[in-house]
Amino acid sequence: MTPRKDLLDIQSLTDEELEFILSNAVPFKNLFKRSVKKVPTLKGRTVLTLFYEPSTRTRSSFEIAASRLSADVTNFSVSTSSVVKGESVLDTVATLEAMRTDYVVVRHSMSGIPNLIAKHTNASVINAGDGFHAHPTQGLLDVFTLREVFGGDVRGARVAFIGDIQHSRVARSTNLLCRRMGMQTAMLAPGSLIPRELPQEIAVFQDWKELYAWKPDVIYLLRVQTERQNVPFFPSIGEYHRLFGLTDERLKWARDNGIWVMHPGPVNRGVELTDSVMEYERSLIDQQVENGIAVRMSVLYWLKPGSSTEDKP
Ligand code: CP
Repeated sequence: MTPRKDLLDIQSLTDEELEFILSNAVPFKNLFKRSVKKVPTLKGRTVLTLFYEPSTRTRSSFEIAASRLSADVTNFSVSTSSVVKGESVLDTVATLEAMRTDYVVVRHSMSGIPNLIAKHTNASVINAGDGFHAHPTQGLLDVFTLREVFGGDVRGARVAFIGDIQHSRVARSTNLLCRRMGMQTAMLAPGSLIPRELPQEIAVFQDWKELYAWKPDVIYLLRVQTERQNVPFFPSIGEYHRLFGLTDERLKWARDNGIWVMHPGPVNRGVELTDSVMEYERSLIDQQVENGIAVRMSVLYWLKPGSSTEDKP
C-alpha cells in the first residue's frame, strides 16, 4: 500500500485502504475492554485539533483516539486564538508547521479548507468536516458500525437517510461509502432539502409511506442544519417534525419491523426525533460514538506524516 499523508474525503480512498482502516479498527476496539486501553503506537508524535466550527463527538473522539495511541494531543482553540485578531488559515498553519505537529485534525465551515491546509504542511491532515462537502471519519465509523450489525456482510442492506440531506456532509460521506460497499440507499426529506445532483439509483421519497414500502433495514436521521440555511426550507419546526421526524408512531413501526436507527449527533429532540428514540433498543447512536474512537485510532495508525503523495505548490 502506498503511504498516504492525508485523509480528505471518501472518494480518494482505495479499496485496499478502506479495508485496512476498517479491519484494523477491530483490534483497536478490542482494547477498550482492557483495563489499560493505551498502546505505544504513536509515542512521541503530536496531534493537533484545529476546529473552526463547534464539535462535541468528533473532537473528543480524536483526542481520546490519539491519547490511546500514546500521542501528545493539543487543542487549538480558535475562539481564543489569534484567528479572532484576523490571522488567516494559512498563516495559522505556517505557525503550526513551525511547531512540527505530526497530525492536524481540521474542521471548517468552508468546503476545501482541509485540502488547502494539506498542500501547505508536511503534517498529516484529517478532514473532520468541511462545509457541506465531506466528513470521512464519520462515514468510516458508520460503515464500521453497520458491519458489526450485519455480521460483516453489508451487501444488500437498505439504508434510508432522513432529514437535511442538502446541507449534510455526513450524508454525502456515509451514503457514498454505503453504496461502495454494496448497500442500497434512499433519501426522505422535504424537496427543498434534497440535493438536485443525486445519482439516479438513489431512491428519493417525500413521504414516510413511500419509505415504509421500500422496507429499509436502517434509518439514518440527520439534524436540520439551521446554521447553514440563510432562507427557510420548510414552514416550521413543528411541521417538519410532524411530516419528517421519527415520531412515537413511526418509532412503533420501526420497532415492529426490527429497524435500526442511526444518527451522527448532535440530536435535536422534538425535531428529527422524539425523545423515546434515545432509549430504543435498536438505536445505534451510542455504538456509533464508541466506534468513532476505534476508527479514528485506525486512521491515525494508517496515515504517514511527511509522506506526501499529493502535489505541493
Ligand atoms: N457527528 C459529528 O460530527 O458530531 P460533532 O459535530 O459533535 O463533532
